[in-house]
Amino acid sequence: MVSVAIDGPAGAGKSTLARRLAAELGYIYVDTGAMFRTIGLYALRAGKDPKDNEAVNALLPEISLRLATLDGEQHIYLGEEDVSTAIRTEEAGMAASAVGANPAVRAYLLDTQRNMAKTQNVLMDGRDIGTVVLPDATVKIFLTASPEARATRRWKEYQAKGMPNTYEEVLEDVKQRDYQDTHRAAAPLKQAEDAVLLDTSELNFEQSLDAMKQIIARKVG
Ligand code: DC
Repeated sequence: MVSVAIDGPAGAGKSTLARRLAAELGYIYVDTGAMFRTIGLYALRAGKDPKDNEAVNALLPEISLRLATLDGEQHIYLGEEDVSTAIRTEEAGMAASAVGANPAVRAYLLDTQRNMAKTQNVLMDGRDIGTVVLPDATVKIFLTASPEARATRRWKEYQAKGMPNTYEEVLEDVKQRDYQDTHRAAAPLKQAEDAVLLDTSELNFEQSLDAMKQIIARKVG
């Protein structure tokens, strides 16, 4: 099986690029951030502080999380509810970053993530895919961009969706999430030694896509 691990900070374009690449290569796209977001959302809805590990751990046995592909798009379900849209808020992103620092949450998701790569060709994006989840991945890419470039992209997405966040707020959140994701003890965001670094600050979408295709083509004949 071929596995492509794509890691990097929030807003580097991982999911948009990975989704398109997966479609072109005929691989299954696995968005691990969506799993952490769903657990974060569940904690928020339950009125718990996502940073409170004990409170979140007590919720884990109640959580039923399922991924399904519909018309080529990955959907994520919390019980019977499709939460694919509900998890795409800044608040759910921050909650995901908080529960991502919780070792029990990471352990809870690890088997699901690994099993997905056992039976099918996958393109998996996250923070620790190349370092922890799939250390033997066929290809590892560490995708990054400057905080300003990432905040600008996120802010434009929010604008297009009519969301009210200001650029300054988005930049602040990007920086805070970078800090949380790189400084946690459990599986922090870091480049795997054998990952190829790709900085997309100065690249547009098509250029980034081409660069990723070249990196993959070098490893997968
Ligand atoms: O990729 P994203 O923005 O949807 O991820 C949301 C948060 O989830 C991110 O800030 C940290 C956490 N996360 C993680 O800890 N490990 C992963 N493999 C993916 C996401």
